[in-house]
Amino acid sequence: MDALSHLREEYGLRGLARKDLLADPFRQFSVWFDEARAAEPRDANAMTLATAAPEGEPFARTVLLKGFDPGGFLFFTNYASSKGRQLEANPQAALVFFWRTLERQVCVGGAVSKVSREESEEYFRSRPLGSRLGAWASAQSVPVASRAVLEERLAHYTKEFGAEVPLPPHWGGYRLAPKSVEFWQGRPDRLHDRFRYALLPGGEWRIERLSP
Ligand SMILES: Cc1cc2nc3c(=O)[nH]c(=O)nc-3n(C[C@H](O)[C@H](O)[C@H](O)COP(=O)(O)O)c2cc1C
Repeated sequence: MDALSHLREEYGLRGLARKDLLADPFRQFSVWFDEARAAEPRDANAMTLATAAPEGEPFARTVLLKGFDPGGFLFFTNYASSKGRQLEANPQAALVFFWRTLERQVCVGGAVSKVSREESEEYFRSRPLGSRLGAWASAQSVPVASRAVLEERLAHYTKEFGAEVPLPPHWGGYRLAPKSVEFWQGRPDRLHDRFRYALLPGGEWRIERLSP
């Protein structure tokens, strides 16, 4: 087997030019996201979410994008999890999408806020029964003695709620309102195309090409 140091891809599917970009990063994201959904066999909406503890220590994990619009990028989680506690103390975060089939990356940074309980309710109701019960059964990010403990908790809530599972008070959505959105297209010889949209105080977006 090849040494890991030799493991690399050459990117050359296509380029990205300034004239290709829409003025609004959400519309540009929408075009790329539709292409990613068509091209990626699974999890086109999976994104890395980076948060930081109040002392500045960074953490990252994958979550699923559940919507986006000019208000921001929506995801759902346990508010009492590690990420939830970090966002409570430091409501800044970053998102990264990597769509390998398209040789594309999108990096987003901005401020995060909780969505309304109504919006969380609406999404929670759309989840499969097992996922709704799982949200009650798991104290996300807290050490647990065994898998059996989780299964007991699931059985407990299944008995308690049946098919009418309410939204847990500790569970809901966050929306990241971007201050910057970068679109990256892989190119040969590591001379990739990168364009960053930065939000200006007046609400306009400035687009700049960045060195790869
Ligand atoms: C493909 C994928 C999708 C995931 N989607 C979510 C999600 O939407 N919400 C969530 O809370 N955790 C999701 N997870 C689990 C998280 O990566 C993480 O383990 C969990 O949220 C606990 O993170 P924390 O301890 O840093 O708070 C997903 C994991 C993977 C691999």
